[in-house]
Amino acid sequence: MNHQVQDIAAHCEQLPERFIRKEDEEYGNVTNSNASSPAKIPVIDVSLLTSSPLELNRLKIAITTWGCFQAINHGIEGSFLDKVREVSRLFFDLPAEEKKKYLREENDLEGYGNDMVLSDHQILDWTDRLYLTVFPKDQRMLQFWPKSSTEFREVVDDYCSKIELINQVILKAMARSLNMEDNCFLDQYGTTNSKMFARFNYYPPCPWPDKVLGVKPHADGSAVTFLLQDKEVEGLQVLKDGQWFGVPIVPDALTVNVGDQIEIMSNGIFKSPVHRVLVNTKNQRITLAVFCMPQTEKDIGPVDGLITDDTPRLYKNVTYSRDFFFQNYQHGKRTIDACKI
Ligand code: SIN
Ligand code: FE2
Repeated sequence: MNHQVQDIAAHCEQLPERFIRKEDEEYGNVTNSNASSPAKIPVIDVSLLTSSPLELNRLKIAITTWGCFQAINHGIEGSFLDKVREVSRLFFDLPAEEKKKYLREENDLEGYGNDMVLSDHQILDWTDRLYLTVFPKDQRMLQFWPKSSTEFREVVDDYCSKIELINQVILKAMARSLNMEDNCFLDQYGTTNSKMFARFNYYPPCPWPDKVLGVKPHADGSAVTFLLQDKEVEGLQVLKDGQWFGVPIVPDALTVNVGDQIEIMSNGIFKSPVHRVLVNTKNQRITLAVFCMPQTEKDIGPVDGLITDDTPRLYKNVTYSRDFFFQNYQHGKRTIDACKI
């Protein structure tokens, strides 16, 4: 059954059991929840990546240690990011009855709904989502694209096209930072018919913030994820060296995560970080995650030049559709661990 978290937040006096988190199952050894420690998520100037060896090296350090960074000077105007935020908010602002027109089929990803339930033991995320395939264009399921604003389609299309260009700049820079040929990741990623999904995330204020998670710990199955954070409300945390670090809001930045596909292609040099989302009692939070992926049937493996006597192959070749199980993700497990040799 689809119960929107927004409805639960508005009408329930008691937290439904299915949302109660079990801390001992969440990356068990993390004892020090260090949300208040000053976060040092690196900030990378994308406009310098083609000209500055120093910035390229900072990128390399960022994604070999944190697996994520805040991208600034990426070429998308702040006013346009605000527009993207506005069309996202206009959708979640629709009355519940209107939003239900976009409800997904129970076990499908595409469309509007809450955490997908794949087993009785799964703990549910405190979030509602609208999940859309954006590219390839002919795979769009337009019945799920909201008519909440006349501009939604145009703005999302434009935003995702811009993200694809930034993605290519970053994939090339990643390769160069390892002294590899520019296209070594891009060739596997594939520039034609690669996939892009947009997931609009809505986290309603929660009367029981310590008992739930907005999103349970997970690492992204994408190649690269671009997150447009809420302009005011924080909540994302990333796991590093056994501690959770809050990801602050940097004006006009995009938060970039290395996904599992790049961890595999880089033979484990670049890290796909575990992250989670906390919620709060007062403020709703809206974010947009754009997942850049190779074609789901494509064979992906560590790049030849990164397999050496000193750094033997860590991962077998994978195809997303065969090896990446949503089941694992929904239980807060790192899918990629099953891809190790
Ligand atoms: C996610 O990683 O799934 C969502 C991140 C966020 O909304 O901050
Ligand atoms: Fe994520």
